[in-house]
Amino acid sequence: MRVLGIETSCDETGVAIYDTSLTGGQGLLADALYSQIAMHTDYGGVVPELASRDHTRKLLPLIEQVLAEANLTRHELDGIAYTAGPGLVGALMVGASTAHGMARGLGIPVLGVHHMEGHLLAPMLEDDAPDFPFVALLVSGGHTQLVDVQGLGHYQLLGESVDDAAGEAFDKAAKMLGLAYPGGPHVAALAEQGDPNRFRFPRPMTDRPGLDFSFSGLKTHTLTAIRQLEAKDALDDQARADVARAFEEAVVDTLVIKCRRALDQTGLKRLVVAGGVSANQRLRERLALACEKRQAKAFYPRGRFCTDNGAMIAYVGAQRLAVGEHDPSGMMQATPRWP
Ligand code: KG4
Ligand code: ZN
Repeated sequence: MRVLGIETSCDETGVAIYDTSLTGGQGLLADALYSQIAMHTDYGGVVPELASRDHTRKLLPLIEQVLAEANLTRHELDGIAYTAGPGLVGALMVGASTAHGMARGLGIPVLGVHHMEGHLLAPMLEDDAPDFPFVALLVSGGHTQLVDVQGLGHYQLLGESVDDAAGEAFDKAAKMLGLAYPGGPHVAALAEQGDPNRFRFPRPMTDRPGLDFSFSGLKTHTLTAIRQLEAKDALDDQARADVARAFEEAVVDTLVIKCRRALDQTGLKRLVVAGGVSANQRLRERLALACEKRQAKAFYPRGRFCTDNGAMIAYVGAQRLAVGEHDPSGMMQATPRWP
């Protein structure tokens, strides 16, 4: 089955084609991404209406582009998958209505998929893809979750953030430090210059059992540290880097502690890490050590599939369409909040 995947949940227009007759990364016939980040940077965050309008402008040209790259005509597609949520409702509707319109015109099945299932299974696009079962740490701008994954569609939530997501905390810390949106990569780069021993920020919810997270207190702690430095007129470049480092260490440490717990609790030996924050190098280094100690192995998507992309949606949609799942005719789905 050749499936066109469409991702428009937030600020990236992603389109890809996945072929289920091939496996892993081989099945990915083409993928294209247009990032709106530069447009939203001026506003310090994503402006929903601008996002929808830009998806409308970019989606059809990107679909033409991936078809050309895969050397296919649209009549050779066997199905279409789109991100049905969670995300910005207007942005989601661009992908959903395009997918449904195209599928109706071509007489092929169409399916709305969960954005986080896309992130969850993105490592399946790598040559070194994990076998089931595994523990997954999903860390994006909107989610921080630990999931016990037994197979396609068999997911048990082990824990999640009770307030801010890890990526959201990175973005807010970046704003406080005067860094651009999205903040994660900028905070990580600044933290490189920071002294890990100057400040120690708390590791929230690690002193009690359980696999839930909380990052909003850390945000307040960061703001307080910055204010105290400002009051002493001591917020120079080095101090900002030291704050970034302390913040990153605290987030990474917290994520690693909970991953160790999840591996120990489930007895599983495979850990999948996906979503935007999985691009963080310090997180990867620390998880590698934790896995080594447990004879476990960590799996990641390649860099550009850590953040939002069409390939992960094409992959998940292809797996589900191939076993007969599809949206009821004319029932397009755009679900901004979807547990
Ligand atoms: O998965 P994603 O592209 O979009 C959502 O579904 O949210 O994740 C974006 C998030 C942003 O919060 C961004 O700051 C964060 O991932 N991020 C990072 C890094 N790269 C992206 N956070 C920490 N370190 C990074 N290197
Ligand atoms: Zn995402």
